[in-house]
This record gives sequence, structure tokens and C-alpha cells, in this order.
Amino acid sequence: MRIRAAVLRHPSKPVEIEEVELDPPKVGEVLVRVAAVGVCHSDVRHADGDLGPGRWPAVIGHEGAGVVESVGEGVTHVAPGDHVALCFVPACRSCRYCLAGKPNLCETVAEHGARGMLMDGTSRLRLPDGTTLQHGLRTACFAERTVVAAGGAVRIPAELPLWQAALLGCGVVTGMGAVRNVARVQPGQSVAVLGCGGVGLQVIAAARLAGADPIIAVDRVPEKLELARAQGATHAVDAAEDVSPASSIRQLSDGGVDYAFEVIGRPETIRLAWDAIRPGGTAVVVGLVPDGVEATVPAVEFLSDKSLVGTYYGSGDPAAELPGLAALALSGELDLAGVITHVDGLEGVEAALDRLRRGEGARTVLLVDRALAGYD
Ligand code: APR
Ligand code: ZN
Repeated sequence: MRIRAAVLRHPSKPVEIEEVELDPPKVGEVLVRVAAVGVCHSDVRHADGDLGPGRWPAVIGHEGAGVVESVGEGVTHVAPGDHVALCFVPACRSCRYCLAGKPNLCETVAEHGARGMLMDGTSRLRLPDGTTLQHGLRTACFAERTVVAAGGAVRIPAELPLWQAALLGCGVVTGMGAVRNVARVQPGQSVAVLGCGGVGLQVIAAARLAGADPIIAVDRVPEKLELARAQGATHAVDAAEDVSPASSIRQLSDGGVDYAFEVIGRPETIRLAWDAIRPGGTAVVVGLVPDGVEATVPAVEFLSDKSLVGTYYGSGDPAAELPGLAALALSGELDLAGVITHVDGLEGVEAALDRLRRGEGARTVLLVDRALAGYD
């Protein structure tokens, strides 16, 4: 079928909405009518070529929600009409990582996903001239419709408006997982969150739900610090004004926080996270650093029991966790609408990427189908 989708032809060119061909779902795949999609900084990294070479031409977009339109052979966990959040790591459940309880690191996904292919190593997307298009992050949801692996479509309650549910599949899984699965923050522990964009705000919300205190938000844009306070930050440090954000964080936390979350993706803020933790503390790097960039820390400080740890996509079982996160949003404990600062149509994708490049606003949600998204 012919659909409209945001195509990255080359990082030197803006992403444009084009007509592309989408093939029907094969065995173990699902066709989803996309209702709404969040625009994440990882989309900027993809569009700017920072994920490394060979990641185009592609339909990009990975933080979406919609309604199942049809299912391929063998798919029984969802049916046409079901509301789903998209999960960009549709774990195979049989590789050594999946069997070891690390489905977020699924090897099959990593192998085909790096080439922008679905789980059988092929694509359902092409340009009208026949050129194969990659499925950006296995999800390709800056589009009217998408075909995803069965594990990439997770059923959620229909009561949760899809314009909010869109955020579950990236920002919420990633942010909540960093706090719950990686740091395992306990009540009363101190937390700093560096970067209060769409993902960082979810880390703050998760820290609040975990009972962390204080929760110190750091950003260089005052508007983000306001949003951070609304999500539960108890203190705010403006990195553009403060001469030493690390000392300010240490002062606010009696010598350093238990956990610092870097949610930006820059070597200097990874270093700031390291400098902000107490002896025995842990710096968790959530941000995606451009391919080829290194980060350093003063290594003698490993002797004070400090840890620097990584995380990918919440480091748990994203698909299994999604319904519970949707329930948290439905109950009002997670305020998804509060982090959405802009809404637009699909054609607003490049403007949204530009806002992220400039550091303006938190999440933009593209209402691909305004009525289906439940926005009005
Ligand atoms: N110091 C403090 N804050 C900064 C700095 C800095 N040097 N540089 C950027 N920021 C802030 C921005 O102002 C913004 O609020 O970091 C925030 C980043 O948020 P977004 O651009 O909205 O990015 P987001 O979608 O939240 O993703 C954050 O997580 O998943 C990864 O790839 C993603 O690396 C990205 C990170
Ligand atoms: Zn994302």
C-alpha cells in the first residue's frame, strides 16, 4: 500500500514526508495504523548521521502508538482494533541474551536492526522507484502505517489516549527502567538528573515514584527546569548560569548524590554525573552519545567505590513492562500530557527535530491521525 512517511534520504538533507510503498505483514508481523508519535533526541541522532554510517535511506521514528489493522500468520497476542504501544526492541526470546533475562539486548534484534531490517532480515518499505528503505529503529513510525515484528506491538488499555501512549515505548520505558531496573533507587536516596528533556523528565517522574529525596534537576534551559519541578524535582540547577554545577549538586546532597543520571549524551555531562556522585555512588548514562565519541573520568576515583554504568532501553523487559507503565499513566501517577510541549501533524517532523537541536521545548507529539490519537 501507498503511505505517507518521513524519509531520511541522507543526513545532509532534511527529513521529508514522501509517499512510500509498505508491504503487508509477513509471518510474525503486525500492521499498525499509527495514531501519534513522539519526537526523541535519538531521532535527531539518526537524522544527523550520528548513529554511524549506513543508517539510511530510512523511514525514521520510534516512539509511537496506534491501532492494529491486520496481523500476519502466527500472531495471536494482538488482533485488529487493539490499541498498541510500539516497542523498538521486539525481543526474539530465543537468543542467549533473551534466555539470560536481558531481552533489551536481544541479539537477533541487534543483528538485523543495525541494518534497519525486520526480524527475518528483510524490509517491508521501499521508495516508489523500488529502492529498499530501512525501518528506522525497527519501528519506522513517522508514518501513517507501519509493519513491525509481533513483539514490537504491545497491547495497552484503549482508555489511555494514544497521543499520550506514544511516549511509553521510548521515553517512559527508558526513564523508568534506568531508575527501577538499573539504579533500583530506594526511598530517601538522593538523585540528580542531568538533562530534563523528554527522557530526563521520565527519569525524574520515576525517581519521584521511587521516593527519592532530594531529586536535583540539571539543565541549561530554565523552561526545562520548570517542567522538571512539575514532574517531582525538589531542586533545580541551571547549568548555563551555575559556575560549578557539580559543587552545587554535592552541596544539595550532603557530599554527592547516590545516583546521577546523564540523559543528554555528551562526554562533559557524563563527567558531570561522575563528579556529582558520592563515594559509593553510581553514575548511570542514559544519553546516546554520537558514534565515535569517547568519555573519560579520573580513574583514581574508582577506588572510592564509584561506578559508571550504562543502560539501554530501560535494561529490563520493555514489552513486559509497557502495560504496567500504561496503567500508571491511566491512574494519573505518571503525567504524560505534562511533558508534551508541542503537538503537530506528521509534516511537522523536521521542525520538531530542529526544536530538539536548539534545545527548545520537551516532547513534540506528531498527531499522525488526530481523531485516532484522541487529541480533540
Ligand atoms: N548541560 C545541561 N543540560 C543540557 C546540556 C548541557 N551541556 N546539553 C543539553 N542539555 C539539555 C537540553 O536543554 C535538553 O533539555 O538536555 C536535554 C536533552 O533533552 P532532549 O533534547 O529533549 O532529548 P531526549 O529526547 O530527552 O533524549 C535525551 O536520551 O535516549 C537518549 O538519544 C537520547 O541522548 C538522548 C537523551
Ligand atoms: Zn527515543
